[in-house]
Amino acid sequence: MNEFMSGSICYLNGNWEALADAKVSVLDRGFIFGDGIYEVIPVFSGIAFRLPEHLNRLEESLAATGIKNPFNRGAWVSIINQLVATNHGGDQSIYLQVTRGIAPRNHVLLEEVQPTVFLMSSPLVSNGPTTAIAAITLPDFRWQRCDIKTTSLLANVMSRFEASRLGSEEAIFIRDGFVTEGASSNVFVVKSGRIKTPPLSPGILPGVTRNLLVELSRGPDLVIEQAMVSKDELADADEVWVTSSGREMVPVVRIDDRPIGNGDVGPFFHEAQSIYREFKRRFSELEN
Ligand SMILES: Cc1ncc(COP(=O)(O)O)c(C=O)c1O
Repeated sequence: MNEFMSGSICYLNGNWEALADAKVSVLDRGFIFGDGIYEVIPVFSGIAFRLPEHLNRLEESLAATGIKNPFNRGAWVSIINQLVATNHGGDQSIYLQVTRGIAPRNHVLLEEVQPTVFLMSSPLVSNGPTTAIAAITLPDFRWQRCDIKTTSLLANVMSRFEASRLGSEEAIFIRDGFVTEGASSNVFVVKSGRIKTPPLSPGILPGVTRNLLVELSRGPDLVIEQAMVSKDELADADEVWVTSSGREMVPVVRIDDRPIGNGDVGPFFHEAQSIYREFKRRFSELEN
């Protein structure tokens, strides 16, 4: 554990404690079955970014899995704000997880149990300068409810390992010849001035960062189409980038060991990034 993390204070079932001391039962269904859901929420200058959107998705994941929502909106907001303040504000990444709870191992629950609620703070990785990455494509061998933000991430983890083994940072999934999303990100593709991102469906996570870019594209300076992207379109794109709350916008300049466009970060990425950054700047001004 690095110094920042071992020294950070986390929240576990109503208790505030050092991350290094927090313990969960081996019978927790998150440990036994991956029976849990999660969120990753970025914090800029002490303020959780797009918090209502993250809490909407948290509520949707809980409803879809039938895991009891232990808190109302106000209680979630106050735990998150307290965690941010306890870890000294500034920029952070909040990880929030709810599992179905602790019970004898059985696929079905034989008795009512309390969900396990865990939140921790980590350093925000998106703070550095923009760094372009390489990606690989892989068949999308995940289940058919990728819209639920579940902690059952084995397929995503295996795919990131495979990408890493091949010297790449992200795996982009292909299902039936079309791009779904990255193993930990949503995908944007530019060809001849048109920016496309795959439409929302049960096959992809409704990324908060993706949805923000789509929302910003309703302004005059950015046009993004939500449309299917074939594997060939991906390979033939002028620009590709991926988005996530942790890493914001990351240009992809090589896919499957071939350059995308001329192999450099492109003008549409820079334009979209500056619109996104301007939104963030205004958000910070308004909130502080
Ligand atoms: C599979 C997957 N898709 C997309 C995303 C991006 O979502 P967001 O922008 O809400 O972080 C993530 C983020 O972790 C992810 O794991």
